[in-house]
Amino acid sequence: MVVPPSNPFTPGQSPRFLAGRTAERRRIQDRLARVATYGELGGPLLVFHAPRGLGKTSLLRAAEAEAATLGFVSVWVACARDQQLLPELAQRVRGSLARHDALGDSGRTTRLEGLTVELGVPGARVQAALGRRDQPPATAPILAVEELLSEAAGLVRAHSGAGLVVFLDELHAADAGELAVLLNAWQNLDGAGRPTPLSIVTAGLPVTPEAITRAATFGERSTFVPLDLLADTDARTALVRTAEVEGVAWTDEALDLVTAEAHGHPYLLQLLGNTTWDAAAPSRGATLTSDDVRRGVPHAQTQLAAMHRARWGAATPTERAFLAAMAAVGDGNVTRAEIAAGMGRDSRGISDPRERLIEKGVIEPVGHGLVRFTLPGFGAYVRGLDEA
Ligand SMILES: Nc1ncnc2c1ncn2[C@@H]1O[C@H](COP(=O)(O)OP(=O)(O)OP(=O)(O)O)[C@@H](O)[C@H]1O
Ligand SMILES: [Mg+2]
Repeated sequence: MVVPPSNPFTPGQSPRFLAGRTAERRRIQDRLARVATYGELGGPLLVFHAPRGLGKTSLLRAAEAEAATLGFVSVWVACARDQQLLPELAQRVRGSLARHDALGDSGRTTRLEGLTVELGVPGARVQAALGRRDQPPATAPILAVEELLSEAAGLVRAHSGAGLVVFLDELHAADAGELAVLLNAWQNLDGAGRPTPLSIVTAGLPVTPEAITRAATFGERSTFVPLDLLADTDARTALVRTAEVEGVAWTDEALDLVTAEAHGHPYLLQLLGNTTWDAAAPSRGATLTSDDVRRGVPHAQTQLAAMHRARWGAATPTERAFLAAMAAVGDGNVTRAEIAAGMGRDSRGISDPRERLIEKGVIEPVGHGLVRFTLPGFGAYVRGLDEA
């Protein structure tokens, strides 16, 4: 029996083939090379930022795989509002070292354990020492994080590894106090006499640079890199290369259709690739056509509508009023004044819902106070609610 190839498109998961992002990957490679070659910090904090679905996690995951081939031990933390970042970081550092046997039998193990306990006991030292947000963080947790990272990175190096690389995803969700501690620790390591073979690569929503700078003014010296939509050529390559692995091709018209529909949005691209594949149920050697694309589109729309519904459902009444005012203007960039007028408010009175919607990734700022929806079709969805 011939088993048909399985659908290789991955809406919502890391892609099988990461298209484009050459410059971004090079930036990460440069930092890793510096750590590996000189055994020192890999430059300022690297921060990728973009709205939901643009490929931040995918980029970091690709970098993680690459780092492993270069002999790095990596640590991955996805920040979340209801979770303390530093204890989680400490646990993950320990876990990664243990998995890589980098703890070895050196007496330093006990020391690292001490540090992780210090950071890891729920509500213990970090929490107590974070203090008030409007004051600089106390030195104790900063020192503990500094020591944790330099000890761990040193251990990796001592066991013939290239160094330690820490990936922090969803960084916008980190607590400001904890972020301040991390940034201070990083700054101290940068100025320390003993070099630390460590790199930190992070990603978050477009508010991330602001959150970092608010947590510590010198945070502004981090390297901020926005992730853009994929160029059409990269989008096409993603579709072709992903299907090719399963022995399936695309007609040019089908590629034109999907790239036009996806507008370079990586999630949409994977979604449309996925629905086209399901509509065609191709066997090896088959070619996906524009008819397949068209038959798949309604399924993609159903999925998108579910996402629209979920975003609308998670919005408060004031946020909904904000979204409705935006949608009434159209699908492009909308000004503060237009939204305020639509909500019947003063333009200063819309800052709260604006910020929360940006934080949730539903809308994004596009400069000069303008905002737009991050998910295609959301404006039409909201307008449709009005008519219903
Ligand atoms: N360079 C790329 N080439 C092909 N597909 C990609 C690429 N980047 C991301 N994708 C696809 O786009 C979708 C979203 O990617 P990812 O989860 O990495 O985005 P994100 O920015 O982390 O989103 P979120 O903010 O929701 O976490 C996934 O389905 C992924 O497979
Ligand atoms: Mg992500």
